[in-house]
Amino acid sequence: MAAVSLAGRRVLLIVSGGIAAYKALELVRLLRRDGCAVTSVLTAGGARFVTALSLQALTEAPVHSEIFSLTEESEMGHIQLSRAADLVVVAPASADILAKMAAGLADDLASTLLLATDKPVLVAPAMNVRMWQHAATRANMALLAARGVAVAGPEDGAMACNEYGPGRLAEPPAILAAIAALLAPAPRPLAGRHVLVTSGPTLEPIDPVRYLANRSSGRQGHAIAAALAALGARVTLVSGPVAIADPPGVELRRVETAAAMLAACETALPADAAVCAAAVADWRVAATAGHKLKKVPGGAPPALALVPNPDILATLAAPGPRRPRLVIGFAAETEDVVAHAADKRRRKGCDWIVANDVSEAGGAMGGRENEVHLLTDAGIEHWPRAAKEEVARRLAARIAAALT
Ligand code: CTP
Repeated sequence: MAAVSLAGRRVLLIVSGGIAAYKALELVRLLRRDGCAVTSVLTAGGARFVTALSLQALTEAPVHSEIFSLTEESEMGHIQLSRAADLVVVAPASADILAKMAAGLADDLASTLLLATDKPVLVAPAMNVRMWQHAATRANMALLAARGVAVAGPEDGAMACNEYGPGRLAEPPAILAAIAALLAPAPRPLAGRHVLVTSGPTLEPIDPVRYLANRSSGRQGHAIAAALAALGARVTLVSGPVAIADPPGVELRRVETAAAMLAACETALPADAAVCAAAVADWRVAATAGHKLKKVPGGAPPALALVPNPDILATLAAPGPRRPRLVIGFAAETEDVVAHAADKRRRKGCDWIVANDVSEAGGAMGGRENEVHLLTDAGIEHWPRAAKEEVARRLAARIAAALT
């Protein structure tokens, strides 16, 4: 039995050509024994080594092989076939199908499904040792691994072609174990925790058509909210207006002004942690005009009297019964990044500061990558430049470790 229950899970199994295709039948038997539903696709090459009838008998389901099948298209489009499964497994995966995957070809049902799927993919390569070691296959495997395709095997051993070396299909129990590992539920160390995240800019109205604002895409804050939710946290995301998609699995509160952002944060308390990634406008107009300010020909432009906005981070970090256990701020600096951030951490009373240098054009502000320093009681860590989603995952993991 697989260590993780496969009952009720669904695998789409693609059987491509090669002498090892007969082992796919044993893999189906093991999957079915563990309660996993298997839908199979047999390539033209695969059909020369195993029959559709054997696959159909073992999977107890129709076998798909034609891309333009009228009955199959009317009953279940091939795109649907690639999405209905929890995992797509290619076993055996021939050199040819791996090359097609790497190149993004879609010239038969199997390759089309692999291009159309939105599910994780596991390949179990099987081929002649020289084909496996060829630079083309090496490059294809490196590309597929970089795209997140999981690999089981191949194993070393005597091959049907009288050669010896890597290229043998992994044994079915080893492929089953790889499938179980990929289908294992993701760890949820933040289950039961509530985290508050601020993101995006705030807009401070001058009159009904004009406002003051900070630059902020909301990308980093939204990615943090998504990463925390992926670890099982209940996330309240309080965001100013942004042009990016809502992150999945979070409770989103849309606000415009700093005052509204603070009110939404206070309503969301209590929280175990708060992450203030919003670019809050430091000032608002003292008296917002109720009508559009008119330009007076030859007249002086209106003088705007500004008053400071509440500091949301400092308010959340102030000692008190409702203070989240962990309060994290951001510091956008253009010089002496670490020294200014350390000072900001003290002034605002937060536990950690994530500091980034925003002096670079196309850098953190509005860009898709971020290079940060994390300042905690334990010291200063430099995190190398990475996608904002990656910085978010790393920070979420640190938050999970601190709260457990
Ligand atoms: N912040 C906040 N409320 C404000 C201003 C800032 O919650 N009114 C938070 C931001 O979300 C961020 C941190 O404070 O987590 C740092 O903001 P930043 O604008 O970089 O610092 P300032 O407070 O503006 O300080 P300075 O102008 O000295 O850089």
